[in-house]
Amino acid sequence: MKNYPKMEKLMARGSAFLGCRYPVICGAMTWVSEPNLIAAVCNAGAFACLAGGNAPADILKKQILEVRKLTDKPFAVNMITIAPAYHEQIEMLKSLEKPVEYVVFAGSFPRDREVAEIKSTGAKVLCFASTISIAERMIRYGADALILEGCESGGHIGQVTTTVLVQQVLFRYADKLPIFVAGGIGTGKMAAHLLLCGAAGIQMGTRFVMTDECRVHANFKDYFARSNARDAVSTAQFDPRLPVVSVRAIRNHGTAEFSKLQLNLLREVEAGNMTRQTAQAELEKFWVGALRKAAIDGDVENGSVMAGQSVGLVDKVIPVAQLLEEILSDGEAELNRVRQILEV
Ligand SMILES: Cc1cc2nc3c(=O)[nH]c(=O)nc-3n(C[C@H](O)[C@H](O)[C@H](O)COP(=O)(O)O)c2cc1C
Repeated sequence: MKNYPKMEKLMARGSAFLGCRYPVICGAMTWVSEPNLIAAVCNAGAFACLAGGNAPADILKKQILEVRKLTDKPFAVNMITIAPAYHEQIEMLKSLEKPVEYVVFAGSFPRDREVAEIKSTGAKVLCFASTISIAERMIRYGADALILEGCESGGHIGQVTTTVLVQQVLFRYADKLPIFVAGGIGTGKMAAHLLLCGAAGIQMGTRFVMTDECRVHANFKDYFARSNARDAVSTAQFDPRLPVVSVRAIRNHGTAEFSKLQLNLLREVEAGNMTRQTAQAELEKFWVGALRKAAIDGDVENGSVMAGQSVGLVDKVIPVAQLLEEILSDGEAELNRVRQILEV
């Protein structure tokens, strides 16, 4: 890999925090970011998150050990706080002979006690923040770093855009702790500007799906290649009596089925036949199954093809190393251009 002095200068804090050369994070993606992809990204000099998803603790442990066989570089384990095995996963992480070095809390937000428990293993804790109030709460709870994720992202999302989160959170707290920005990033140019805004690094999901090393079904990648930004739509919440976390995925038969399911469950809740919690759990179960159907089985019509709006910025599958090279060289060129503009 060549040298990218300006990008590397702006990334120095993120690199030191993550213990890697390039703080370009491959975000956790359930059913997608498995040990092979994690190792490929880390071995290329960047950083990746193993998805805890809905995996039982013993399966997640096996995957951690598998990553360690494939790379000696640091990586993170991502846990979804609303997943059924979440507490079991925390206990497993606490019991590891060689603790993992980084843990990312995603989904809803962790309790302060859980952040402290993970930190006591020696791991650094990164917390997702999709609003300023969550960001401030996570800082109070002792997060070592934040991942600021705007609603342009693929998968489960908040409601605030990356642009607004940058102004509300990054500009205010970048001096306090490292903040990595995610959501809608598909080019080195954008990465360069976020670094200039004070980001310690960036996180991408959608672009990493379109790499050779990503083992999702070929149909999943083809669907990405054919889709535009406007095709990656967010699900709606029909009624506040059944709160749902929005999901951004490429519009297909599966997204229509989700809407039907939501309406049916809403009727059940209204009629008193089902509790709100059970209905919410049913909805989450839908996504886990639907993502597997598309990502592993290749059923991209009925399954869930989760993708960010940045899907409109990608149309071919390339090796991880080439993706990194592209992000860094584009970013460096952009920083040179900015410098020229500013020279008087
Ligand atoms: C297919 C898919 C699955 C995802 N699953 C997870 C997950 O399990 N946990 C998580 O924290 N984020 C998940 N994400 C979000 C990514 O880690 C990342 O933050 C996001 O994709 C960044 O936005 P981008 O898609 O615009 O690059 C997922 C994203 C995609 C596209």
